[in-house]
Amino acid sequence: MTCGLPYVNGPAHIAHLRTYVPADIFVRFLRKMGQDVVFICSSDTHGTPITVKAEAEGVTPLDIVEEYHRHFLEFFPKMGIHFTNYGSTDHPFNHNRTIQIVEALKENGHVYAKNLKLPYCPNCDRFLPDRYQRGTCPHCGASARGDECDQGCGRYLEPGELMDPRCSICGTKPEMKETRHYFLKLTAFEDFLREYLPSLDGTDIARNYALQWVEGGLKDWNITRNLDWGVKVPGEEELVYYVWVDAPIGYIGSTEEWAERTGGDWEYYWKGPGALIHFIGPGIIYHHCLFWPSMLKGAGYSVPDAVIASGTMKVEGHVFSKSRGYVIWVEEDYLDKGLDPDALRYYIVSYTGHTRDLDFAWQPYTEKVNKELVGTLGNFLYRTLLFANRNYKAVPEGKVEPEVREEVEKTIETIRDGLDEYEFKKIADAIIGLAAYGNRYLQSREPWKLTKTESEKAAGVIHNCLWLTKALAVLMEPLLPFKVEAIWEQLGTPRKDAPLTEALEPLEIGTPIAKPTPLFEQISDETLAELSEMASKRIEEASG
Ligand code: 2FM
Ligand code: ZN
Repeated sequence: MTCGLPYVNGPAHIAHLRTYVPADIFVRFLRKMGQDVVFICSSDTHGTPITVKAEAEGVTPLDIVEEYHRHFLEFFPKMGIHFTNYGSTDHPFNHNRTIQIVEALKENGHVYAKNLKLPYCPNCDRFLPDRYQRGTCPHCGASARGDECDQGCGRYLEPGELMDPRCSICGTKPEMKETRHYFLKLTAFEDFLREYLPSLDGTDIARNYALQWVEGGLKDWNITRNLDWGVKVPGEEELVYYVWVDAPIGYIGSTEEWAERTGGDWEYYWKGPGALIHFIGPGIIYHHCLFWPSMLKGAGYSVPDAVIASGTMKVEGHVFSKSRGYVIWVEEDYLDKGLDPDALRYYIVSYTGHTRDLDFAWQPYTEKVNKELVGTLGNFLYRTLLFANRNYKAVPEGKVEPEVREEVEKTIETIRDGLDEYEFKKIADAIIGLAAYGNRYLQSREPWKLTKTESEKAAGVIHNCLWLTKALAVLMEPLLPFKVEAIWEQLGTPRKDAPLTEALEPLEIGTPIAKPTPLFEQISDETLAELSEMASKRIEEASG
């Protein structure tokens, strides 16, 4: 299983989490169901996203890559996201794998060289690949950069396609200069893609967009660039492979890093029977559903089984944009303010369906935390544990009522459906639903009235509530891993990564129950006001 690789040219932001949080949740559930999962990610270290940033800061691309690679390595665990391997596309394994795959494609007749005329800036004395040029999108007329219509229709653009290009560094109108490049014969993969795509699992948006693009006609794909940062093309002084060649190959490179570290078998996953699942953002479907399966197929590797593309990210109701200030920097704006990583994981998956627009705004965030996490989930757990500690100090005698067991069984069913459908909101809602049921159960049985007169009955109610607490701990661990650690401690049985079936197992009577502390903290009006002000300031500053 893989996640789209972050370009390491800046710190982690909220839109990154739209891929990593659901993917991490998915992996944790797969493991709870007994699956062997290798969860792979890497720093995306090449291409103009890195070189443009390095030039702007007057440092080398390697400086930038090292700084932010370290950042991401340290960042993911702070959000409870744990990859089996977090590698780098600049690792020698990945350079070698990229060269091997292109060689294999060449041998199989899928790669050819061709001379073409590309924009060259006489002032900067260089070719202008990708982000080094801005101009007009030939499809929709919006202002676009060389590789992508970033402000209009979002289409992928081939070198030479952008109209009226200008050098994005100095603004000069470029000359057209002849240069030799390599192409992948994507057109030769049309029949393969037509057959493959309808059976590709994952979200509909990935499959449907990709099929539409095939219908609209494919073009051969330029896989090289005039740059000196990247994977060097053997025998070509001036060329490196396009970043979108060595980046997805980085999924393999990172698996090789894992294999070397652990003695694992990377080929099982990439050439053998292992299922291949990619979690990605909405802007990179073209690359993952057209280029990538064609490359794998043409070089003799397994092709992806599922591509799970999310919907887009918004911030305070606007399209996510770093330059316009509609951004949340996860460390600076969130974690460093002492806010709860689990609450953010919860918000990301419970706000809306996985393929819809997800808006992050402080007001609904506060409402969700206060109502669902504090009011429903935290409340049930705290009341149960407090009552148990005060009255029994341990798990009291009792029998799980059939009605209570049925609720847990229903929740597990819903979770399984959510996983099958890649609908993580369904899972989050089911868990809150189970806690809401617990609150209703506790409220209707009123054990506080029974302790004196019918003490056995009271103990039975609390036994059921503790059993529900344990079930919740098992079921919500993938969403709220930090909190669940605390619940296990309070339940007196630290149990990390308990299998899903553990939710239905009986409790051990007599296990000590410690005095609980509330798991979730209410967000006050003052905190909400501060956070909202921070967001408004950032937007104001960005608009100058
Ligand atoms: O769009 C991006 O941010 C890229 N860095 C994603 C790369 S995913 C993969 F294929 F490597
Ligand atoms: Zn466009």
